[in-house]
Amino acid sequence: MEAANRGAQVLAVEPMPFMRMVLGLRRLWYPRGRISVLNGATEAMPVGDASVDVLLTVNTLHHWTDRDAAVREIARVLKPGARVLLLDEDFGDPSHPEHEEFLARRRRSGLVFDAVDPEALARALTQAGFAHAEGSRTRFAERPVKLIRATR
Ligand SMILES: C[S@@+](CC[C@H](N)C(=O)[O-])C[C@H]1O[C@@H](n2cnc3c(N)ncnc32)[C@H](O)[C@@H]1O
Repeated sequence: MEAANRGAQVLAVEPMPFMRMVLGLRRLWYPRGRISVLNGATEAMPVGDASVDVLLTVNTLHHWTDRDAAVREIARVLKPGARVLLLDEDFGDPSHPEHEEFLARRRRSGLVFDAVDPEALARALTQAGFAHAEGSRTRFAERPVKLIRATR
């Protein structure tokens, strides 16, 4: 959303109807026509080939159902030289402020999301032809995160 304020044309890809509705409402606070909300997922984006300058995603990596399809799709939509920033909070890290809550929620629901390995994801991007890709576990906004940075 901040990118729209800075003049970018933003495509927000979201698979859940409820979240698309929320995004549709939130975009009313941003410059008219700058944000398009699209029905899709990282594995299948309704976006043209080599049409995107920057791809950014926060806290969605653990939802991916097919990492290789997501990597192929990211490679397809990006222009040469485009940049990628993928970030997931590391709730499994004991230093995360919501770590205990995360464990309790996981015990209650029985849901275990895919374990995201940032180094392996960076390697998959390199194998898909990215000029540069690096994955790390670091900190952002005082939280442990998994971060992947890449250039097409
Ligand atoms: C934990 S929320 C994070 C939302 C927001 N990015 C944030 O940080 O507050 C995860 C979002 O990813 C969406 N999502 C689920 N599967 C996805 C996929 N395969 N590709 C892209 N987004 C997905 C969910 O519908 C949900 O809106």
